[in-house]
Amino acid sequence: MILLSNEDLKNVPEIIPSTKPGETIISPDSLLQKPPSRPQIDPHTAARAHQELSLRETMKNIKKTVVVQSGKGGVGKSTVTYNLALAFARAGFTVGILDADVTGPSIPLMAGLSGQFAKIEGKKIVPTEKNGVHIISIDLLLNQDTPVIWRGPLKIAAIRQFLSDVKWPSLDILFIDLPPGTSDEPLTVAQLFDNISGTVIVTTPQKVATHDVRKSIGFATKVGMPILGIIENMSSLTCPHCGNKVPVFRSGGGKELAEKLGLVFLGDIPLEPQVVIEADEGKPSVLLDTEFAKSFNKIAKKVAKLLQLKIDD
Ligand SMILES: Nc1ncnc2c1ncn2[C@@H]1O[C@H](COP(=O)(O)OP(=O)(O)OP(=O)(O)O)[C@@H](O)[C@H]1O
Ligand SMILES: [Mg+2]
Repeated sequence: MILLSNEDLKNVPEIIPSTKPGETIISPDSLLQKPPSRPQIDPHTAARAHQELSLRETMKNIKKTVVVQSGKGGVGKSTVTYNLALAFARAGFTVGILDADVTGPSIPLMAGLSGQFAKIEGKKIVPTEKNGVHIISIDLLLNQDTPVIWRGPLKIAAIRQFLSDVKWPSLDILFIDLPPGTSDEPLTVAQLFDNISGTVIVTTPQKVATHDVRKSIGFATKVGMPILGIIENMSSLTCPHCGNKVPVFRSGGGKELAEKLGLVFLGDIPLEPQVVIEADEGKPSVLLDTEFAKSFNKIAKKVAKLLQLKIDD
């Protein structure tokens, strides 16, 4: 049986009772009327709704989300993201990295995935897994020599797709690596996720860096992203000859900033020339027995505690 709504009934041709028994006449006027109109669904709206659904579905399978950011470029955001992710993966957590630096992605290079492409299964992209970390980055989707020269809306669309069109496994923790500044990418991430567990702010010690980093702190506060704390990277260099610590970019600026703003100081990471070589070669520095690795593991434990997780000794 077909049930007609009141709306449908309005469009049924008018039936005029006949004078002759057993005969019905359909009024000519009603035949001239347009056929009943069906509600039109704009294909873009339908695609958008479908994307929104997959996006929400993905997010349901991510227990914790940590955003790594800094107002300043080159201070070690990607280094921190990758090594924190490795530390959590080594502790037995299922970990992912969403590389939201669309124009300057560095996670695949650091992970030794240079030149590799993500696999596609059905209509979904599969994150590339390396050392227990599941990674998605524009560098795993495009030819790496192709520059991404995109305006805001395209970057926003790419980051959305990193969630909606990617077959993420069920994650204990997703790290998001942001480009420097407080523009399209951080804003997109802040708007997409309504359950960010917290953000880690990375700085180097000198005022030129801490000055810009304050902007990221202001941004996080404005968008309601909880701040887990500040990391001071490239804190000092141990002289290979005399063993003394050399404060190449001064020292203590990150701690000072944290104290001034009443934020948690998560720790400092030494400047270790070997890290540059390892990052370039895609070797995981945090897995080695160095001062860099030790300070990282300490920071990872602090971050875990703040996220109500535990990393054993
Ligand atoms: N503690 C460290 N010791 C030695 N080298 C480091 C350290 N931290 C980062 N680096 C190196 O410094 C360079 C910049 O680091 P990274 O790419 O992580 O910075 P970033 O903040 O992500 O940069 P961008 O703003 O371009 O995204 C890299 O070559 C990296 O290997
Ligand atoms: Mg980076």
